[in-house]
Amino acid sequence: MPQPQTELLGTAQADLARAANLLGEGRLVAFPTETVYGLGADARNGVAVAAIYAAKGRPAFNPLIVHVADADAARRYVQWNDIATRLADAFWPGPLTLVLPLREGHGISPLATAGLETLAVRVPAHKSAQGLLRAFDGPLAAPSANPSGRISPTTAAHVLAGLDGRIAAVIDDGHCPVGLESTILALDGTPRLLRAGGIAAEAVEALLGQSLAAPQSPTTPSAPGQLASHYAPQAQVRLNAKTARPGEVLLGFGDMGCDLNLSPGGDLIEAAANLFGHLHQLDATGRPIAVAPVPDHGLGRAINDRLHRAAAPRD
Ligand code: TXA
Ligand code: MG
Repeated sequence: MPQPQTELLGTAQADLARAANLLGEGRLVAFPTETVYGLGADARNGVAVAAIYAAKGRPAFNPLIVHVADADAARRYVQWNDIATRLADAFWPGPLTLVLPLREGHGISPLATAGLETLAVRVPAHKSAQGLLRAFDGPLAAPSANPSGRISPTTAAHVLAGLDGRIAAVIDDGHCPVGLESTILALDGTPRLLRAGGIAAEAVEALLGQSLAAPQSPTTPSAPGQLASHYAPQAQVRLNAKTARPGEVLLGFGDMGCDLNLSPGGDLIEAAANLFGHLHQLDATGRPIAVAPVPDHGLGRAINDRLHRAAAPRD
C-alpha cells in the first residue's frame, strides 16, 4: 500500500484551522517555531504522542517539551513558582523551556513526560506556532521534526526530506529564525541548566543573580531520558513471561489471557500509549509484575528499552 503523502500547509487562518483539526484527530503536524520545526501531537492523547516516537524512529521514550500559547496556559499543567514568573516575564514567548513539577489533574499523557513527575513547558514566539496553538487551543507535545539521529529541521523541506508520508501535515513558514533548540532549565529545586540553547545561560544568570549548574558538557546536552529518575515501578518486574507465576500480575501483549493487555490486537503504537499507565495500574496492586514478550522492532524497541530499565536490578 503506498504511504499517504504529507499535506503541505501554509500560514493562512484556514491552513492553521486545518492543522488544528488534524491534531484534534490525534494526527501529527510539523510546525515552525523560532528554534526548529517541531513535530506536534496533542499532549493529552497517548496514542498521538506514541505516534511521534514511531514517526521519528526514536529508540527510547525521552521526555518531550509541551508547547502552550502563554504562561497562563503553562500554569494549568505545572506547579508554578516565583522564579518561573521572573523567567517567563523576561523570556516568554521565546526559546526557553522550563521544567517544573506536574500539577494535580494535569491531563498530560505520561508518554509525553516519559513517566517523570516533571513537565518541560515552552511558549514559542513564532507567529505561526502561536497561531496554531491558539487554533488548537490545547497543549502540543513536540520534539524536533526529524528522524531520530538526524539533524534538526529548520525548513519545511528538511521536515519533508525526513518524514514525508509519515506525518499528516507540515506548516511551511520558511526558515526558523533561531535554528537552535531552546535552552532548558530545571526549576524543580535550585535552577539547573539541562540544555544550552536559544537563550544564553548568561542572560538567565544575570536575571536571576545567581549562576546555574552547568550541563555535563557544553556539546553533550544532559539527557534526562537516560537518567535514573526515569520511571520504574516499586514492584519486581519479570520479562518475557508466557504466564503468571503464583502471586504475580501479568501484563500481556497480543491475544492472550492476562490481567492487563498493552494491545490485544498486537499494535505497538497502542502498546506504547498504554505502557506507563498499565505499569502504574499493576504496580498499585503491590504484586510482582510479569510482562509478556513484546516484538523488538519499531516502537517495540522503545517499549523493551523501558521494560528493561523497569526490570533492571536496583538498590
Ligand atoms: O527548541 C526546542 O526546544 C524544540 C522545538 C520544537 O520547540 N524542541 C526540542 O525537543 O528540542 P527535543 O525533544 O529535541 O528535546 C526535548 C528535551 C529532552 O531530550 C530532554 O532533554 C528535555 O527536553 N526534557 C523534556 N522533558 C523533560 C523533563 N520532564 N525533565 C527534564 N528534561 C526534559
Ligand atoms: Mg531533537
